[in-house]
Amino acid sequence: MSTISLPDESPMLRREFIYGVATSSFQIEGAKDARTPCIWDTFCEQPNAIADHSNGAIACEHVKYWQQDVAMIADLGVDAYRLSIAWGRVMNVDGSINAQGLGFYRNLVEALVAKGIKVFVTLYHWDLPQHLEEQGGWLNRDTAYAFALYTEVVAKALGDRVYSYATLNEPFCSAYLGYEEGIHAPGKVGQANGRQAAHHLLLAHGLAMKVLRRCVPDSLCGIVLNFSTAYSASTREADVQAARKGDEYHNHWYIQPLLEGRYPDILNDLDAQSRPQVEEGDMAIIAQNNDFIGVNYYTRAVYKDDGHGWFEQVVPQGHALTAMGWEIVPDAFTKLLVELDQRYQLPPLYITENGAAFDDQLVAGEVVDQPRIDYFNSHLRAVDNAIRQGVDIRGYFAWSLMDNFEWSLGYSKRFGLVYVDYATQQRTLKHSALAYKALLSNRL
Ligand code: FCB
Repeated sequence: MSTISLPDESPMLRREFIYGVATSSFQIEGAKDARTPCIWDTFCEQPNAIADHSNGAIACEHVKYWQQDVAMIADLGVDAYRLSIAWGRVMNVDGSINAQGLGFYRNLVEALVAKGIKVFVTLYHWDLPQHLEEQGGWLNRDTAYAFALYTEVVAKALGDRVYSYATLNEPFCSAYLGYEEGIHAPGKVGQANGRQAAHHLLLAHGLAMKVLRRCVPDSLCGIVLNFSTAYSASTREADVQAARKGDEYHNHWYIQPLLEGRYPDILNDLDAQSRPQVEEGDMAIIAQNNDFIGVNYYTRAVYKDDGHGWFEQVVPQGHALTAMGWEIVPDAFTKLLVELDQRYQLPPLYITENGAAFDDQLVAGEVVDQPRIDYFNSHLRAVDNAIRQGVDIRGYFAWSLMDNFEWSLGYSKRFGLVYVDYATQQRTLKHSALAYKALLSNRL
């Protein structure tokens, strides 16, 4: 199939279902000299931290080409654009406001609104100012309070012209990949670090939600979480338990505190020194009402027992893989959404990221990315399936608008609907972009 289509009677073909494309600041903006350094600038300087030894100094030069990029977004016919704000482009080291940087986002939001595009802002997509990292970063409780101050600056400047604010993008990645496994910035390791960072991130979310309620009562406010549906490698009881633990540790650790004001029971399996320090009142701050939760889904995770009663992820088998080595399992997407809905009292959901990297080739001005079209087709149908089973899902954002800096894999992985030639900054709509555009224009 060379198109993306949904069943005729799908609720996702109604106009009120929001379609968008997503990006993040560090991955596309460039213009490094016009902001304070962030932890990813520092991380990129470490030998071998980034697969292709690249960095975000130039990226897609979006700060230079933003007007052209807004026109491109509008041309896709999307209803919404999800972007993130770089903390260090808005605030200087001394806490004063960077008027030029804030002006950039103000202009960007205005231009999008003028085109009738709803703006979904994410306040933190991993680019913590380096000077805050030097004070301990997310291991320092003060960072959560600094985040609330930064949130106030942005909310007051952009106001309710922003349709939706998300506090954090994927606190799992910030905490686990950045402070526990060390494969993302700032490259710290250790379970105690990971758990403490996660707690301070969630606290930051709760504090920022209070600010948002006060400053932008008319915008939709919430958070974006990532999930990999947990499967057991076998029917052995030990593996079934390993999958349950992997699910608690990687998925529920972030959503359960938000919705129920407590960490999952797996907290009790940790050594005392690895448990986060939680101050009185913290869990109530974390459990603010959210207007929505953003769900980012790419693939599933398969777990087995590691021989010590803990879980271990196994190498995927039996499904086609993307260029990331991630299994393509649309059914796992439906299962995730339905199970979240069964387990929790959820606010409405938005799919805030979904997409795939493939080894795209630009040939004679075209990128024929059939595998990506198939990926979007099957995953949009997976969302449709979840909605039919009663899950309240209001929108879907493709990751990503355009190829960009894919974190520790640099520019070697292409997730865009739009191909970027980094030597010339030329953007070319891939066939998947044309298919997405056709789906959107065929709505009722
Ligand atoms: C998510 C990130 C996003 C992008 C995709 C592929 O975890 O939020 O920035 O890198 O993965």
